[in-house]
Amino acid sequence: MIELAPSILAADFARLGEQVRAAEEGGATVVHVDIMDGHFVPNLTIGPPVVKSLRKVTELPLDCHLMIENPDEFIPAFAEAGADWISVHQEVCRHLNRTLHLIKSHDCLAGVVINPATPVDTLEEVLDLVDYVLVMSVNPGFGGQKFIPGTLHKMRQLSEIRSQRRLTYRIEVDGGVGHDTVGDVVRAGGEILVAGNAVFGSGDPKKNAGALLKAATEAALLKV
Ligand code: DX5
Ligand code: ZN
Repeated sequence: MIELAPSILAADFARLGEQVRAAEEGGATVVHVDIMDGHFVPNLTIGPPVVKSLRKVTELPLDCHLMIENPDEFIPAFAEAGADWISVHQEVCRHLNRTLHLIKSHDCLAGVVINPATPVDTLEEVLDLVDYVLVMSVNPGFGGQKFIPGTLHKMRQLSEIRSQRRLTYRIEVDGGVGHDTVGDVVRAGGEILVAGNAVFGSGDPKKNAGALLKAATEAALLKV
């Protein structure tokens, strides 16, 4: 099933509740929250207090994408603030197995993220543990970047491995997903589509979300 996860990074933070509700009315079923620490990525965003406030304005799952070093130190605080899904970058986790178990111990879905330069092979030993794999289709740190087509093969690879090994993780894609790229993403196996600028960049988030989801669903129907 295709799901749209608007990234609030591109939203107006002063009207967050309203904007999230609009995206939800347009068919969004997950809210993607980008957490950046100024170390792992060259940008700073938000922490647990904003997650706690979001929890009050929507019942949709809050998908917290941790672009931070030492995620183990902050996973409990995000879970307590109301995160439902928590993903961590393969590149920062020295003990990835332990970190994924930590996320699960807080009753959250556990995801692992790979940067454009990180191969799928690095996940071989954790694919049976994770609820989802997030393929970055831009280098993390900023919204509004151009989609990197060279990441599409990783979505295909993850779909193949999942059938071969009879696993159940879902495939999420993040960065530069919009009208021009969503078809390729879905055909390559992307299922949870993160979109920041395509939803909140300009115009009405409800209409934007609806149109993007429609394009994605149509591409998925043509796939089979
Ligand atoms: C990038 C973030 C993305 C970003 C997506 O580091 O992880 O979630 O907000 O924004 P768009 O859809 O504008 O590329
Ligand atoms: Zn993200």
